[in-house]
Amino acid sequence: DDGSLADGLTLGSVVVDIDPLIYEEQLLWVGGGAGQVNTYRIPLLTFTTRGSLLAFSEARKMSSSDTGAKFIALRRSTDKGVTWSPTSFIVDDGSLADGLTLGSVVVDEETGAVILIYALCFHLYHCDPSSTMMVQSLDDGFTWSAPRNLSVELGVKSFAPGPGFGIQKRYAPNVGRLVVCGHGSIAGDGVFCILSDDHGESWRYGAALKSIPYNQPKQDLDFNPDECQPVELEDGSIVINVRNQNKYHCRCRIIVRSLDGGESLPVEELVFDKTLIDPVVAAGALQKQGVMYFTNPSSTQHRVNLTLRWSFSDGKSWEKEAVQIWAGPSGYSCITSLKGDSPEDSKFIYVIYEKGHKDYCETISFAKIHLYGGK
Ligand SMILES: *[C@@H]1O[C@H](CO)[C@@H](O)[C@H](O)[C@H]1NC(C)=O
Ligand SMILES: *[C@@H]1O[C@H](CO)[C@@H](O)[C@H](O)[C@H]1NC(C)=O
Repeated sequence: DDGSLADGLTLGSVVVDIDPLIYEEQLLWVGGGAGQVNTYRIPLLTFTTRGSLLAFSEARKMSSSDTGAKFIALRRSTDKGVTWSPTSFIVDDGSLADGLTLGSVVVDEETGAVILIYALCFHLYHCDPSSTMMVQSLDDGFTWSAPRNLSVELGVKSFAPGPGFGIQKRYAPNVGRLVVCGHGSIAGDGVFCILSDDHGESWRYGAALKSIPYNQPKQDLDFNPDECQPVELEDGSIVINVRNQNKYHCRCRIIVRSLDGGESLPVEELVFDKTLIDPVVAAGALQKQGVMYFTNPSSTQHRVNLTLRWSFSDGKSWEKEAVQIWAGPSGYSCITSLKGDSPEDSKFIYVIYEKGHKDYCETISFAKIHLYGGK
């Protein structure tokens, strides 16, 4: 490699190639065991404004099913993932037939609030209606508010946020806005974003990218955008990386972009990324210092082969040297990093993902990744 800027990153005056190395890895949650939580799934990861790492998951009490009663589990690390607090259960849905669905975490950089949005009765299984709920922490993830029912102001609709993180706009338009994207019920599916311009005090629906046929039963190969992860580019646009539920056009990711702060998702801004092959799953994405990162089980058939990719062109093309994080069964993933520009903050990204030997939902693992091969 000639070390040219086209495929390298400048750190100070030194050009460094990205060469990701799994620096540390540890299991945060393991399901099973009599009297224990049956299954942990749907991991979310974020830094707080004070630099603590928060890991969340659904603790599925009785079975691995998407419905059923759950807790929201939290572990917290104040040393960037070296050690973790014991698990605390910050929300308990009791014994609901169709309990909570995680979810999206968004950190307000101005107030320091950590906001977690989830659904209740998302699948309308022995319950009605579905509700969009919010809890928040104003003390770095130590204590959490009572749940607030956002459906009162949003209207009643099945909305499953994320799973992943929401963003706070850093670049115009709409600096400071909180944007949380998710998907609708299976019939009324599509990508939908909810917006707050007052630090989470009030919320309203913004952009929608609806499935076709909308509000009607789906069949294989229909257009059905589903679970999604938004990231903001430095030009202020929001790129949303979306699960292609019914494999419309390809067994790969749908990418759609909002140019107006999450108010709309025009079809002109929609592409299929054939490099990002996908077995129909929730994936991780992150934009950090001009580089886009992406994690998913890189396979058109099965949830295996969790892979990290990176792009120097905002996702228009991907570097061919992808890094395999786990060859075996692997499912949902979420990526985060510190936002500071110090050399230390620039070196690492952090990935949380579903990992197993026989089945991807056996454990939830946390990996700290050194972007420059440990250098
Ligand atoms: C949330 O509010 C909606 C709209 O008022 C209501 O229909 C629903 O039952 C509420 N959900 C919960 C869990 O209280
Ligand atoms: C894992 O993913 C990488 C990147 O897409 C690919 O080159 C490799 O063939 C995959 N391995 C398997 C076993 O699917």
